[in-house]
Amino acid sequence: METIRIARVMQDAVLKARGRSIGFVPTMGALHEGHLSLVRTARAENDLVVVSIFVNPLQFGPSEDLQRYPRDLEGDMEKLQALEVDYLFLPEPEGMYPQGFCTFVEVQGLSERLCGAFRPGHFRGVATVVLKLFEIVQPTRAYFGQKDYQQSLIVRRMVEDLNLPLQVVVCPTVREPDGLAMSSRNLYLSPQERRAAPILYKALLKGQEALLRGQRQPHRIRELMHQVLRSEPLVGEVQYASAYDPYTLEEPPVLRGSALLAVAAFIGRTRLIDNLLIDGLK
Ligand code: PAF
Repeated sequence: METIRIARVMQDAVLKARGRSIGFVPTMGALHEGHLSLVRTARAENDLVVVSIFVNPLQFGPSEDLQRYPRDLEGDMEKLQALEVDYLFLPEPEGMYPQGFCTFVEVQGLSERLCGAFRPGHFRGVATVVLKLFEIVQPTRAYFGQKDYQQSLIVRRMVEDLNLPLQVVVCPTVREPDGLAMSSRNLYLSPQERRAAPILYKALLKGQEALLRGQRQPHRIRELMHQVLRSEPLVGEVQYASAYDPYTLEEPPVLRGSALLAVAAFIGRTRLIDNLLIDGLK
């Protein structure tokens, strides 16, 4: 595995790979099994695999966890080496956002809903860095996890709107045995909070059960999911928990076709998100 820190050098390396397919997994590091499953899929589907690790300051709000975001470069490199990644792109913030940087990507509408309503500017930061990374890595396919469903929807929209010549591949959420979706932020949880955290998945399962029983009114599903979340004393603010249209991320009057069950809630000081996509609703 070759580690590259400079955008121009990364661009030259992929230029030399002309004609070979490139699978790209953008990450912020602190890699867990969720990331590794993306890397394995990229490895199986492409000639070359590029992984980036960049804790993107642009997608963190002023009161968010940029400074304390988990970092484990040594461990990450070992894991990527074992999966036979070809290139690790490891830019510095000054390289990605040099003095005078003032160009941003905004995917309007979708970016303001769900997480976007509570993290203003977050998806502008995500879309901007992802477009920059795509320009540098020139991937054939880019891999994202379904856990960040809204992010993957926004990236797909951007790729379509800007005619980017690549395929966005969304891979299933990887869960701990007790159902907790894997996330780098799970590392913040105390042992007691960690035991409480699968409550988000339980709330999603409750929503799923209601949908499968024929419930089609989002406000009823919202009530049930909130009830489950409130049953756990360590749950703090529930930012959203309901059933949404998976294309618009809005609560429709009646659910039809497919539904996105999604939740964002604090366990102690840690904000966690999760979702389930349910198809085939009559
Ligand atoms: O999902 C993430 O880790 C980040 O949002 C991403 C896509 C690497 C952009 O910084």
